[in-house]
Amino acid sequence: MFQEMAVFTGNSHRALAESVARHLEIPLGDCEVFQFSNEEVFVRYLDNIRERDVFIIQPVVSPVNTRLMELLIMIDAAKRASAGRITAVIPYYAYGRSDKKDQPRVPVTARLVANFIEVAGANRVLTIDMHAGQIQGFFNIPLDELTAFPLIAEYLRSESFDAPTIVAPDVGRAKLARDIASRLNCDIAIVDKKRTGNNEHAEAMTLIGDVAGRDCLVIDDEILTGGTVASAVRLLRERGARSVRVACVHPVMSAKAFEALDIPEVDEIVFTDTLPLVHGEFKTVPTRVLSIAPLIGDAMHRIHTGGSVGALFR
Ligand code: R5P
Repeated sequence: MFQEMAVFTGNSHRALAESVARHLEIPLGDCEVFQFSNEEVFVRYLDNIRERDVFIIQPVVSPVNTRLMELLIMIDAAKRASAGRITAVIPYYAYGRSDKKDQPRVPVTARLVANFIEVAGANRVLTIDMHAGQIQGFFNIPLDELTAFPLIAEYLRSESFDAPTIVAPDVGRAKLARDIASRLNCDIAIVDKKRTGNNEHAEAMTLIGDVAGRDCLVIDDEILTGGTVASAVRLLRERGARSVRVACVHPVMSAKAFEALDIPEVDEIVFTDTLPLVHGEFKTVPTRVLSIAPLIGDAMHRIHTGGSVGALFR
């Protein structure tokens, strides 16, 4: 067994790292992480971490490339400081949408990032709802992928929404919608979405399922521009939905998302705190933030003590 846990964070999301540390009832470790005037990142651990079980909590959020470099350099510094084991805790894994060569002459950046993390010296990765399952296979080190969807389903149950219809905003999320609907014992509907080109434009084409007079919940892994869920919301309203809520795990939310979704057709937006809102805020639409910190903290504790992470979801 490794010596005590030591938990550190860079500059992505200090509030989340502090909540995790509070949940674990240990202090967040001291570490300097800053950029010089030439933008190069510098890291220095201020605590002794020799032989410690080090966890670095760093979602890869805007500015994505800087936060990714912070993570890599923190891993490198921990390795050179003789940490016993290094777990990269990456609540949001950026570049996940570049997960296959689906056009000529394009990269598979999700794989490249996995290589960076391994080469930097991470021994394990802990992450949450990656964009696609196959990204797990890009790593040759152990990776635990948690899911926040049970948390979202629990929220719906606790608020006692009257048999909501769970809506997949594209065919890729149909299985997810079915899983959540079976937890809540309710119906699903599926939007057929079309994307053209690489310009982030999404269009809801048709709807499979009847939503007239129903309370709907559109569910997705992440919201970036809001285009996917906004076009689903419009279609649901056209088809007579009584109310429409939107939920996602990762509120990536570029500035466009606040324009697209701060609209009366949306009754509520639910998301977790895997990453902070850095490009704006919702002014009129009600929001609900579900904290992911207890789930991350429990998984870290199990990794540290050799317990089962899978048991968290049984
Ligand atoms: C797509 O496959 C994803 O599940 C999301 O629907 C997508 O990443 C959301 O992007 P946007 O908010 O820009 O439509």
